[in-house]
Amino acid sequence: MVAVAILAAGRGTRMKSSLPKVLHSLGGRSLLERVLLGCKPLEPSRYLAIVGYGAERVKEALKGWESLEFIEQTEQLGTGHAIQQLLPALRDYEGDLMVLNGDVPLLRPETLEKLVYVHSVHQNAATLLTAHLPNPQGYGRVFCDGDNRVQHIVEDRDCTDAQKHNHRINAGVYCFNWQKLAAILPDLTADNDQNEYYLTDVFSQLDPVMAVDVEDYQEIMGINDRRQLATAYDILQMRTKDDWMAAGVTLIDPGSITIDDTVKIAPDTIIEPQTHLRGNTEIASGCRIGPGSLIENCQIGEGVRVLYSVARNSTIAAGTEVGPYAHLRNAVQVGESCRVGNFVELKGTTLGNETKVAHLSYLGNATLGDRVNVGAGTITANYDGYKKHPTVIGDRTKTGANSVFVAPITIGSDVTIAAGSTITKNVEDDTLAIARARQVERKGWRMKGQPEGEN
Ligand code: UD1
Ligand code: CA
Repeated sequence: MVAVAILAAGRGTRMKSSLPKVLHSLGGRSLLERVLLGCKPLEPSRYLAIVGYGAERVKEALKGWESLEFIEQTEQLGTGHAIQQLLPALRDYEGDLMVLNGDVPLLRPETLEKLVYVHSVHQNAATLLTAHLPNPQGYGRVFCDGDNRVQHIVEDRDCTDAQKHNHRINAGVYCFNWQKLAAILPDLTADNDQNEYYLTDVFSQLDPVMAVDVEDYQEIMGINDRRQLATAYDILQMRTKDDWMAAGVTLIDPGSITIDDTVKIAPDTIIEPQTHLRGNTEIASGCRIGPGSLIENCQIGEGVRVLYSVARNSTIAAGTEVGPYAHLRNAVQVGESCRVGNFVELKGTTLGNETKVAHLSYLGNATLGDRVNVGAGTITANYDGYKKHPTVIGDRTKTGANSVFVAPITIGSDVTIAAGSTITKNVEDDTLAIARARQVERKGWRMKGQPEGEN
């Protein structure tokens, strides 16, 4: 049984932000949420977050995590002091305690599982995660014997020059036998030049203490400033993109593509450069998305092509082509084998199958049947200044170039709308509707006083 405690009381001064550090967003989720998600596969029996700076905001932001218990540390007197705050809440707890940092969001569940595994196999009093860093500056150094038994940990500031050559660092991630830890926690002192209660001081009083190396040292990266936040985002993105490539998705110029970790993509789909896939987007196989597209919360069927377009909260069925320069938003549903072309905006609109809206149109709150052909420049006038009104257009209807539909309005099936018509009344099936001024011609007409032969 393992309970998880997350250190999240610090302000994070170097973020230069009024937002508590652990609430900064990394790829759409707060740092703290990422830490929680990272340890979820271990099925912890309890989740405890030690909060201090901006505690109310942290609680508010994480209120969706019902099982999360908040422990207040009103003054931040060090990592040891933070863990001391758990003593009342865990008075009767008898399992292990995993300690994580709220600003270390890249740890993989496999790494934490390995830590817990080593901890329990060896029945350690404490097990800590270590890494060999090319630049260990700022981290506590871990000194072990040949069997990975920890002899001592020295904070960077307290290291002698010789000790600084040890690149094996303390990641600040631990697994403790809680009963053993709880017994010595009250005895910690702040007897160091920072006058802080160091959690690392407990190791000299616990036995056995073992170190486990992390394979990929990027995982233990902590976020202290916005630059590190951006680097962490790149690392997460590369993980997500590697996973999709391994799953059979082609990414062209992956560095220019971003994919939220909530997105799903089927094999044999190609994502082209400068394309951003966000939210609960699902893309079927055989699609070609991009270049230059933003797809958010969309369901995309097989073999769809999207070129230089923006689609949000929409469904696009198989075989449809979108773009270049189309904008779909607010619950658009496009049927199979449709064409939504250049400079077309669809809002809250449904298209049947094989319907074409190829050029320069705005369709808002409209429902079109199958095989409708929407002429260039067709517009729905759906808003009267107060309310949005619906337009309905039946199967196989053709709208002429530059037609305007003043909603609410219903156009039947097999209707032809003459180019340039402003349609204000419903049109029945199998009808030609013309609603424009007749062309008037005056043969031989000239302006007053204009001589013949000039115009
Ligand atoms: C700590 C370790 C160091 C390790 C490093 C890894 C100690 C004494 N040292 O150092 O060996 O290499 O982490 O990152 O533990 N926090 C609280 N309350 C407090 C103090 C800190 O919640 O009173 C939180 C901070 O917000 C932060 C985490 O604990 O998330 C670590 O604290 P920090 O002061 O950054 O420890 P380091 O000096 O980095
Ligand atoms: Ca730190």
